[in-house]
Amino acid sequence: MASLTIRKLDEGIKTYLRLRSARNRRSVEEEVRVILGELIEGREEPLTPFAAPPAASSTPMPQRSGALPEASVTLIIGGGIAAYKSLDLIRRLKERRIEVRCVLTKAAQQFVTPLAVSALSHERVYTDLFDPQSEFDAGHIRLARECDLIVVAPATADLMAKMANGHADDLASAILLATNRKVLLAPAMNPLMWNNAATRRNVTQLQRDGVMLIGPNSGEMAEAGEAGVGRMSEAIEIAAATERLLRPPVPRPLAGKRVLITAGPTHEPIDPVRYIANRSSGKQGFAIAAAAQAAGAEVILVSGPVDLSDPQGVMVKHVESARQMLEQVQAALPADIAIFAAAVADWRVANEGEQKLKKSSAGMPPLQLVENPDILATIAKLTDQRPPLVIGFAAETEHLIDNAKSKLARKGCDWIVANDVSPATGVMGGDRNTVHLISRKNGAENGEITVDSWPVMTKEQVAIELVAHIAKSVTGKSRESAS
Ligand SMILES: Cc1cc2nc3c(=O)[nH]c(=O)nc-3n(C[C@H](O)[C@H](O)[C@H](O)COP(=O)(O)O)c2cc1C
Repeated sequence: MASLTIRKLDEGIKTYLRLRSARNRRSVEEEVRVILGELIEGREEPLTPFAAPPAASSTPMPQRSGALPEASVTLIIGGGIAAYKSLDLIRRLKERRIEVRCVLTKAAQQFVTPLAVSALSHERVYTDLFDPQSEFDAGHIRLARECDLIVVAPATADLMAKMANGHADDLASAILLATNRKVLLAPAMNPLMWNNAATRRNVTQLQRDGVMLIGPNSGEMAEAGEAGVGRMSEAIEIAAATERLLRPPVPRPLAGKRVLITAGPTHEPIDPVRYIANRSSGKQGFAIAAAAQAAGAEVILVSGPVDLSDPQGVMVKHVESARQMLEQVQAALPADIAIFAAAVADWRVANEGEQKLKKSSAGMPPLQLVENPDILATIAKLTDQRPPLVIGFAAETEHLIDNAKSKLARKGCDWIVANDVSPATGVMGGDRNTVHLISRKNGAENGEITVDSWPVMTKEQVAIELVAHIAKSVTGKSRESAS
């Protein structure tokens, strides 16, 4: 079929084509072909490069969906006998949901074909620095930067020498010089090449430059009768190292800890249809539960009536009244950490009506109030099952710090998170919070009380900060070692 060259495209169209082809992982030429095909078939993609990809496309698109986060790698295949292992590496990376765009050096094409690499990667393969097709959209720069990591496998002695000395006379070395991404090399060569003084110098220089290496392993070489250090790491080892760099394990400082949290208001019934409540939304307690869960803790959240969805991975016990909340808290013990963020009603109605109270000529029925159980003090003063770290919340509208300090002493807890909930602050029901962490110096029972005032933050940030403080404080302590 005849080829078509379009000159004098305006800058806007060029930018659109670049972005759209990058999004669809096609060359610009392929993208134009798809657009023309769709126009002729009468089904156009919306004219935005960031729109969702079409359901059916003439070029099969690698799927980036799934449980794991998206990741992409530019894989440079050098000209070594181990290049055949890179075909397996492509497969291993793709089964880990890592997208792979491959670059073959001229020498690599003596060992594996671009066709095989393209078939396995489901992508166009790049081989030439001076390819007008890909350089139209800054091909080598995109290959260097539109990825999360560059992997070189096999990394030949020659490629490493070029890298160490900053050469850029072919596509592979130009990408390696132009990248701002991490680079992982899987060297593969004859043991004499690996041990040669020049290679040793280059490896040292590359490591100083922050380049990472996997292998080489020791073993039999392709050359008959030769053995030693120089075999490329196995594809599965390189894929695992790639995954570790792309998806480093998330720190889980509260792994193995059981955290009990209360949140929200309580509803204290007056009769079957009426109750006494407060304005607590539960957002702060729920955010703490989510942050503790993300830090690896087993979390039990005892929540009063709120309008929030249960945080993922957290066991939630829904209650209404203070007495029900205490019951669930006691049932959830033992715990390593207990955080009482709920706004528990101090009083309940003593003479709760069994039927709906009626207006009568006798006037308003008297509402007798009695004190509710103090959940924080009850748990903080336990002798047998007291969690090693007990944290209370003090929501005050005046004399915030003084009231919070005396609450710390009165309730027997370890820390108080104090916040000003006067209507002007918008904290009750709002998304931001200004808190003060009140504790005793060095955790000593009768130590001096210290106040750590945090800047205004979202409730999620407060939660993350609090969990970080908790993680620092409880490392090494457990409910077993405390009892
Ligand atoms: C059969 C054969 C096998 C080779 N195997 C390797 C090897 O494993 N490692 C290496 O560094 N060079 C090896 N070479 C040499 C490279 O192919 C040569 O240095 C080439 O210039 C490397 O180019 P590149 O680094 O651009 O891929 C081999 C050469 C031949 C002919």
